[in-house]
Amino acid sequence: MSRPDRTYNLNGAFKPPARRKADLAGPDFFPTPAWATRALVDNEAFEGRIWECACGDGEMARVLSGAGYDVRATDLHARGFGTSGVDFLRAKGAVDNIVTNPPYNVAEAFVAQGLKLARRKLALLLRLAFLEGANRANTIFLRTPPSRVWVFSERITFYMKDAPRAGSGTTAYAWFVWDKAASGPPELRWLRPGYKSGRRVPDAAPQRRGKRGV
Ligand SMILES: C[S@@+](CC[C@H](N)C(=O)[O-])C[C@H]1O[C@@H](n2cnc3c(N)ncnc32)[C@H](O)[C@@H]1O
Repeated sequence: MSRPDRTYNLNGAFKPPARRKADLAGPDFFPTPAWATRALVDNEAFEGRIWECACGDGEMARVLSGAGYDVRATDLHARGFGTSGVDFLRAKGAVDNIVTNPPYNVAEAFVAQGLKLARRKLALLLRLAFLEGANRANTIFLRTPPSRVWVFSERITFYMKDAPRAGSGTTAYAWFVWDKAASGPPELRWLRPGYKSGRRVPDAAPQRRGKRGV
């Protein structure tokens, strides 16, 4: 009898292993809980339109629209939301802002392409461990470091689409924000606790430079 893969079952919840191979058209589809996107819009303001370029079934796009942004939602695959058949990695043409939770196995390519296409801000939800690694240091962080990294103080639990909601997250995530208007060294910021439970009430309009975290 085969034993359960412990990398996927720590605390009963999904944990992406370091080299997860995604079945992007099939079950490997993990919508972002709405509270994780609320934490972004509460701390980062966006000028102009936002492109959610890997929108899945719209979990993130709905929060962005609900915050008052004009959102274009597309995905490579048909997930019942937005425009399907749009490969972000082959897209052309500049846009104001790009916000998404990219597919795990091509996250580096999403950074490179997002930096090419976003005129103002590129915000990607990534594992905190994305900061590590010699290859990423050479290709991303030593050349084009993010302007701000917003570390979640609460764990995000990703559930596979339509899977039972059991267990809690075991992987740390952060919002990585490249802000073309920012100067100076990258800022490391912490998102205040309370977003996950919904207890965190936004103070006022989001700050342009992200002043609401810790
Ligand atoms: C981790 S899911 C995130 C979905 C959504 N952004 C969210 O946070 O709920 C990643 C999504 O990327 C899509 N995807 C994969 N490769 C893509 C590509 N080259 N261009 C656009 N979308 C892609 C997948 O179909 C999937 O819906």
